[in-house]
Amino acid sequence: MHAIVCEGAGGPEVLSWVDDAPAPPARAGWLRIAVRWTAVNRADLLQRQGYYPPPPGASPLLGLEAAGVVLEAAGPFAVGDEVMALLPGGGYASEVVVDPRHVLPVPGAIGLQSAGGLMETFLTAYLNLTLLGELEAGQRVLVHGESGGVGTAALQWANRLGAEVWTTASGAKLERCRALGATRALDYRLEDFATELELAGGADLILDCLGARYLEPNLRALRTHGRLIVIGLQGGRKAELDLLTLLQGRKQILGSTLRTLADERKADLVSRFRDEVWPLLDRGELAVVVERSFPLRCAAAAHAHLASGAGVGKILLEV
Ligand SMILES: NC(=O)c1ccc[n+]([C@@H]2O[C@H](COP(=O)([O-])OP(=O)(O)OC[C@H]3O[C@@H](n4cnc5c(N)ncnc54)[C@H](OP(=O)(O)O)[C@@H]3O)[C@@H](O)[C@H]2O)c1
Repeated sequence: MHAIVCEGAGGPEVLSWVDDAPAPPARAGWLRIAVRWTAVNRADLLQRQGYYPPPPGASPLLGLEAAGVVLEAAGPFAVGDEVMALLPGGGYASEVVVDPRHVLPVPGAIGLQSAGGLMETFLTAYLNLTLLGELEAGQRVLVHGESGGVGTAALQWANRLGAEVWTTASGAKLERCRALGATRALDYRLEDFATELELAGGADLILDCLGARYLEPNLRALRTHGRLIVIGLQGGRKAELDLLTLLQGRKQILGSTLRTLADERKADLVSRFRDEVWPLLDRGELAVVVERSFPLRCAAAAHAHLASGAGVGKILLEV
């Protein structure tokens, strides 16, 4: 099969196209999918740099999601079905073998292309906002990095839940965030989000991908009983924490990663997502926001584009 492999760890130039990668071995009860589309996630950049090794048993290839056509049937799926899959790795390749419990049909209004960038971001939004964050109608949520793949999915899902969505982004992207439904879009380069939120009474939930850099202002921005969920460490791993802030405000901090969830937990997550979110995608009431697409062969350019921060939404790869 063809695939993108990493020749060592480093910049986008270590990504190399191969025509003769070994196809993933069959597994009893699992599906084989001919991948048509996959997408770039920030985690791929970290894995390429050598900072985020795949979990045990996962493919060493990059790629956390894929959409394609079933080649070997399993579970409820038949040969020829158009499906999308959540993967622990391996999406930058023409074939993947995957647990059918981590697979869903391509929603009608989404189509195969955009489905290639749906699973990782929408499942992250659903897991963290609904299942862990318990976000409810009328609550206020702050989503950092709203213009990213996860951010654009989280904004739409939080809106759909009836929450008031605040967001941080930069420059021209703020307008896109407002157009997608953000009540307040703050420029993190110019505005102090914590002070703005304190003045407005605080947030019930914060979805954070900055980690250490935003720990103190995030805790300040939360109202009593607020929850902070850390899903990324773009702003560092280590920070000082005044525990009194937690105690007095009865606040909670949670950390979460989708990739390392046990297979059973992922299956449960995908099943709940199918009941609650998939129908809205099928009817076109939620959409994958696509920045642009590249041929898989140009994965290095796609990585450089994501790293540049230029653009809003998902970067797709045509396999
Ligand atoms: N834990 C999990 O399960 C999980 C799953 C998926 C993703 N993630 C994490 O979630 C984050 C987003 O992933 P992604 O694939 O959506 O990446 P992405 O498309 O590159 O989005 C990253 C976002 O971060 C924003 N950002 C950068 N500096 C910021 C700052 N100081 N304040 C506020 N926002 C800032 C960027 O906005 P500008 O371009 O305006 O700077 C951009 O919108 C990553 O950290 C990723 O590792 C975690």
